[in-house]
Amino acid sequence: MAKKKLSVVGLFSGCGGLDLGFKNQGFDIIWANDFEKDAVKTYRENIGDHIVLGDITKIPSSEIPNDFDVLLGGFPCQGFSVANIKRSIKDERNFLYLEMLRILKDKKPKFFIAENVKGILSLQGGEVMEMILKDFKEIGYKVDYRLLKASDYGVPQNRERVIIIGNNIGVDNIFPPITHGLGNDLFNNSTKPYVPVKDVIGHLKSVRIRDKEFNLNGTVIHNHIARTNVSEKFWGRKYDVNQHDICDYLREWRNKSEWSTKKIDEHFGYAHTAGHWFRKDNNSGSIPNPEDWWELKKLLNFDDKYDDQVTILEEKTIVFEQSLRISNWETPSDTITATGPEIHPNKKRRMSVRECAILQTFPDDFVFYGALGSMYKQIGNAVPVKLAEVIAREVKEQLY
Ligand SMILES: C[S@@+](CC[C@H](N)C(=O)[O-])C[C@H]1O[C@@H](n2cnc3c(N)ncnc32)[C@H](O)[C@@H]1O
Repeated sequence: MAKKKLSVVGLFSGCGGLDLGFKNQGFDIIWANDFEKDAVKTYRENIGDHIVLGDITKIPSSEIPNDFDVLLGGFPCQGFSVANIKRSIKDERNFLYLEMLRILKDKKPKFFIAENVKGILSLQGGEVMEMILKDFKEIGYKVDYRLLKASDYGVPQNRERVIIIGNNIGVDNIFPPITHGLGNDLFNNSTKPYVPVKDVIGHLKSVRIRDKEFNLNGTVIHNHIARTNVSEKFWGRKYDVNQHDICDYLREWRNKSEWSTKKIDEHFGYAHTAGHWFRKDNNSGSIPNPEDWWELKKLLNFDDKYDDQVTILEEKTIVFEQSLRISNWETPSDTITATGPEIHPNKKRRMSVRECAILQTFPDDFVFYGALGSMYKQIGNAVPVKLAEVIAREVKEQLY
């Protein structure tokens, strides 16, 4: 007997990385939503016109189909992002998971998958994550989460994301077993080697960027367009500062005070950042930014010795050699972000939209729409398709 096709509803679908992974595993996506016009166009043209453009907070549950098996939702990460210093439980975007909760409550699908950035785990000392898990459990779901690294599944990118899986049918939530690792890992010799950047985008290295699609050795290449600014203005410290000196100085003042590093971290709402101000082993220390310096001064009451060195800034030009974000050619890349794509190892331009898409394991015929910045954003926001596929495969096993 033929198996019934499993059905999916996607929330916060963006251009559709997560949804495409499920589709590729044979799921039928019956409804999806996002409120970004360009992302919705990209989704519609590549995945299907079941996507609805609109703000989910304004869409009543009655407009969403009933009787589907899986709810997907990479609820937005801006409020949660580790890069965002204004992380706060009050940032209302943090509460978009409540939309997912509402739809789970109203529709009761068997499974749900939620994706988020790593920072969600340490937000408010872990309280936000606890609150989210508790809310999902209270409406009858068995919930588990893991921090997964995309490169462990053959994605050529060291992207880490928190995956939450829940089900209300009394089965285990299974996370996909790792398939890739270091070639010389004695403890895990069954894994294949990590996929390096050069293997997947090497063919585009010397191909000039262009607006229109073109044919390269039998493959049509779309969206090989890129930002060409490889230097940028930024605000940097006017004077040289020695991290070791500052560290010794801060540690001395901390020891004189009643503040522990942990308490200081909590005060700032950081998970580990303050720890790095007081340590210099392995050169893993850091110097507080000026805002944090002034706040720290209030706590530790130190003198003016380093005030100018730490806090006086001037505008400088960063050139690509200084950028830490040049993709490693021989290893998986750094995380493809929604803002500034990395500079290509050829140092003449940033990674093209197509190269970013390839590092996110979108297929070659998946075409992106919108202005350049919007395309980079759609891709940087996405779950790598291949990672979504391995998650989908486990969910499918459990559902059958
Ligand atoms: C992290 S991205 C999700 C990416 C997607 N899971 C993928 O794999 O491609 C979050 C998405 O939520 C959308 N979003 C944020 N607030 C929304 C709202 N109120 N209603 C609908 N979509 C929203 C954003 O436009 C963005 O595309």
